[in-house]
Amino acid sequence: MGPCHLFASVVISMCCHVFSATAWSVNNFLMTGPKAYLTYTSSVQAGAQGGIQECKHQFEWDRWNCPESPLQLSTHNGLRSATRETSFVHAISAAGVMYTLTKNCSVGDFDNCGCDDSKIGKIGGRAWIWGGCSDNVDFGENVSKEFVDALETGHDSRAAVNLHNNEAGRLAIKETMKRSCKCHGVSGSCSIQTCWLQLSAFRDIGDYLKLKHDQAQKFEMDKRRMRAGNSADNRGAMADAFSTIARTELIYLEDSPDYCTRNVSVGLYGTEGRECLQSGKNLSQWERRSCRRLCHDCGWKVEERRTETVSSCNCKFHWCCTVKCDKCTQVVTKYFCARRDRSRRPPSSMRRRNRVHDA
Ligand SMILES: *[C@@H]1O[C@H](CO)[C@@H](O)[C@H](O)[C@H]1NC(C)=O
Ligand SMILES: *[C@@H]1O[C@H](CO)[C@@H](O)[C@H](O)[C@H]1NC(C)=O
Ligand SMILES: *[C@@H]1O[C@H](CO)[C@@H](O)[C@H](O)[C@H]1NC(C)=O
Ligand SMILES: *[C@@H]1O[C@H](CO)[C@@H](O)[C@H](O)[C@H]1NC(C)=O
Repeated sequence: MGPCHLFASVVISMCCHVFSATAWSVNNFLMTGPKAYLTYTSSVQAGAQGGIQECKHQFEWDRWNCPESPLQLSTHNGLRSATRETSFVHAISAAGVMYTLTKNCSVGDFDNCGCDDSKIGKIGGRAWIWGGCSDNVDFGENVSKEFVDALETGHDSRAAVNLHNNEAGRLAIKETMKRSCKCHGVSGSCSIQTCWLQLSAFRDIGDYLKLKHDQAQKFEMDKRRMRAGNSADNRGAMADAFSTIARTELIYLEDSPDYCTRNVSVGLYGTEGRECLQSGKNLSQWERRSCRRLCHDCGWKVEERRTETVSSCNCKFHWCCTVKCDKCTQVVTKYFCARRDRSRRPPSSMRRRNRVHDA
């Protein structure tokens, strides 16, 4: 099953109707998980949602901005697609679920799991030994696999690619773990330290996976062998293709659409009407070029909109006991992609120029 199913709006509510309010329904995770894993449903739910929130943050100023519609993840040729973008969705969801479960475990939310103490007391390096509470990522990884990977029931290359990307997401958590240490010894001499492994902030995992998204590779199999072959040959071709790809890398099957143009029937909303950032003291280069990427390169113009907000200001405390304020108006300027005047519209070849990585 593809990410469309990941975000299917089919809500089969298992326990709590509050879940059904969210468009990013992850109830199908909960449905597919084995019964014994009922304990973990709220964590899986929270983790998947955390993953999607992070996706929205990472792609805020991209043409594709991690939309909630299940359709937008599709391409023209059907509902199931495996693009660069869906590879990220798979990785960040799997990572989110693993992350939350691991955190839950460390703070003692589950009876059957606690800190990873397998290395406690062992020598780690020069003047430090393992101690403290290392986050139990193996536990989070196991349960995440049970829920998230269970959605891939197919035996085709699409399912294999989705599973690979789920795994890359989980590995991202391990790759970004950090060592924390505490000093011991006579009056803080720090002659010996105890250290444990700790999860990074989920933002760091999002940043890491965004880079993996930028570097994602197209998964190509030996077409001749595939065409000629029986299913054993297909599996062989698939295994060969996978053997060249590191487990930490994201992969995709289909090229992405340009995401500029709206075509709701295939779930593309386009960038018309999107906000972009024009000015501001402290913008990153990626943010500074957002108007070019979202508007100009897509054939839209940038429209300035001013809004006035009235708020309290210059508040003073008067004896006793009132606070008096002035009303101040502040003008906020925002920028949005808008349609050009018809006569000045560039040819469509211009509008379709390039995709995600142009700026
Ligand atoms: C695990 O943590 C998440 C997020 O902090 C929370 O929403 C969820 O309820 C926790 N699960 C359990 C079983 O405590
Ligand atoms: C939307 O996409 C479909 C499938 O590719 C295509 O047939 C249709 O013409 C497109 N519609 C618009 C308005 O571009
Ligand atoms: C995770 O799964 C592996 C393999 O099934 C198992 O050996 C290991 O004990 C599990 N770890 C935890 C913490 O559940
Ligand atoms: C500007 O950006 C830098 C680095 O991203 C950050 O440390 C700093 O706090 C920011 N300053 C303001 C005023 O937001």
